[in-house]
Amino acid sequence: MSSSPLSIRGLTKGFELGTVNEKLALDHLDLEVPGGQFVTVLGANGSGKSTLFNLVLGKLFPDAGKIFLNGEDITRQKDYRRALNMSCLYQNPLRGTAPNMTLEENLALAYTRKASRSFFAVNRRDSAYFRELLARLDMGLEDRMKTKMGLLSGGQRQAASLLMATVAQPSLLLLDEHTAALDPGSAEKVMEVTRTVVARDRITTLMITHDMDYALSVGERTILLDEGRLVLDLSGEARAAMTPGALAEQFYVRARRRHAGGNSRESGAAL
Ligand SMILES: Nc1ncnc2c1ncn2[C@@H]1O[C@H](COP(=O)(O)OP(=O)(O)O)[C@@H](O)[C@H]1O
Ligand SMILES: [Mg+2]
Repeated sequence: MSSSPLSIRGLTKGFELGTVNEKLALDHLDLEVPGGQFVTVLGANGSGKSTLFNLVLGKLFPDAGKIFLNGEDITRQKDYRRALNMSCLYQNPLRGTAPNMTLEENLALAYTRKASRSFFAVNRRDSAYFRELLARLDMGLEDRMKTKMGLLSGGQRQAASLLMATVAQPSLLLLDEHTAALDPGSAEKVMEVTRTVVARDRITTLMITHDMDYALSVGERTILLDEGRLVLDLSGEARAAMTPGALAEQFYVRARRRHAGGNSRESGAAL
């Protein structure tokens, strides 16, 4: 039995191996995430962040290494089975939702996902529960339960998606730049909702972000991936002492090193 809800050991994934385009997206990655911990994940484009999420979600399978969730080896488990225990939110606020169904119906679908019912229906008790959850977001969504998901604003949809992702109390929440496509005001609001929901339910969470401020101010631990390896792991005092500027510098140092000696035209575009 593993002590961490999410335990990643020696995880390795290559693409197009044996060709000139050969790429080791993840290179023997080890990561232990204790229950309820909220980790922010940084890394330049191509550093392996999405590959990590896809392996955890079961959309890809590794070449080597293992993934444990709550002590269970899920490395080879089918994605639909894992989906009962984990949720992922992406940049696009409509991904993973049914735009032509109402907000309430979307929530009901997400809520009954874990139950083995062959149909779903919104009963009055569920409806009252959803209204209460929505009201707590303080975005006026409790008055829009009969509105089609596709008609909500980007920020409202993403906040609602976050509620859908967590209403069935998953063991693990994966956030892949879920505020990156929103205007600054909505992004801030959705991030606030994220903090509240994760803290309330103590969900183990990994959040990919390119924002140095969020990387240090949201959650309690910051990791940096570089070429498929974990190169920085900050928590406690070391994290509290880190500034967004110094963290950005960690990025550029590595980008410069990567491009040193070669064609360095891309070296300024590490983010
Ligand atoms: N399906 C794929 N086929 C070939 N190469 C891939 C594929 N997916 C990812 N890669 C490569 O693996 C590396 C890591 O990609 P990715 O995990 O998407 O990085 P990130 O999300 O950090 O930008 C990159 O070099 C990328 O080009
Ligand atoms: Mg990516």
